Amino acid sequence: MSGATDEARSIYVTGLRNAHAMENQAVELLERQVGRLENYPAMAERMRRHIEESKQQATRLEEALSGLGTSHSALKDTAMSLIGNLAALAHTPAPDEVIKNTLANFAFEHYEIAAYTSLLTLADAVAHAAAVPLLKQSLDEEVAMAAWIESQIGPTTLTFLQRSEAGETAGR
Ligand SMILES: [Fe+2]
Repeated sequence: MSGATDEARSIYVTGLRNAHAMENQAVELLERQVGRLENYPAMAERMRRHIEESKQQATRLEEALSGLGTSHSALKDTAMSLIGNLAALAHTPAPDEVIKNTLANFAFEHYEIAAYTSLLTLADAVAHAAAVPLLKQSLDEEVAMAAWIESQIGPTTLTFLQRSEAGETAGR
């Protein structure tokens, strides 16, 4: 960190804080959905795992911030409008909520992938080597989750369609 400018350090710390807020939003987003997915047990199970991963990701960000002299208690999460909008999209119960949520979750995971990619660039730019493995692990988890959701878009849509045609509860 010794060669980094104050400006670079400040941009990096803001990025870490924003990512921490993002992870808390991710937990909220998934927790709202997971108890309602009665007809999509595989998705509910994978979401439960990702809730635990997201909590660990938030802890990793706290660890990265504490290494910069930013105390955990001083960590205040700020709302981000894009994330807020995505969360709102997945918030409204609708007849096709499983479809809407799957699309929103896929978008959310890609926002997270972009965030960690950016943070890894900043960690490199300010030479904060200790954070790199932490950020990389979280990035890998987001990539895996995004790929899993992608694999479920088609099957989930078909299940929704078949249950709808049969007159059964289809949206959750
Ligand atoms: Fe995450």
